[in-house]
Amino acid sequence: MRTVLGLVGAGLLLLESGGLAKPVPATAIPTYTATRSTKTRVDFETELKPIFQSKCMPCHFSGGKVYDRLPFDTPATIRKLGTKLFTRIKDEHDRKLIEDFLTQTP
Ligand code: HEC
Repeated sequence: MRTVLGLVGAGLLLLESGGLAKPVPATAIPTYTATRSTKTRVDFETELKPIFQSKCMPCHFSGGKVYDRLPFDTPATIRKLGTKLFTRIKDEHDRKLIEDFLTQTP
C-alpha cells in the first residue's frame, strides 16, 4: 500500500514539476484514470479478431489446418489459450489488448 501511494505521489510530483507544457486542471486527472480502468472494454469482433486475422491466417481460420481444434474466430479459443498466445504475439499493443480481454468479465 505504501508503495502504491508512493508511486502516485511521485506521479503527481512529476506532473506538478513541469512534466507537461500546460498545467492540467486538477479535475482532469481522476477523470482520465476512471476512463482507462472502467470504460475500456475490448471487443472481440472489432479489436481482437483483426489481429489474429492479420497474423494467424490461414491455419487458425476457416479452411485452415488447425481451425477444427483452435479456431481463432471464437472468443472461447482465445480465453482457453490465454497467454500461450504470446509465444506468437509479440507486439506490445496486441498483448495488452489480449490481456485486457482475458481479465474482463465475459
Ligand atoms: C502455418 C500455420 C499456422 C499459423 C500461421 C499459425 N499457427 Fe498456431 N498452430 C498451428 C498448428 C498446426 C498448431 C497445432 C500444434 C499442435 O499442437 O500440434 C498450432 C497451435 C497453436 C497454439 C497452441 C500451442 C499449445 O501449446 O497448445 C497456439 C497458442 C498458437 N498456435 C498460436 C498461434 C498464433 C497466435 C498465431 C498467429 C500469430 C498462429 N498460431 C499462427 C499452425 C499455425
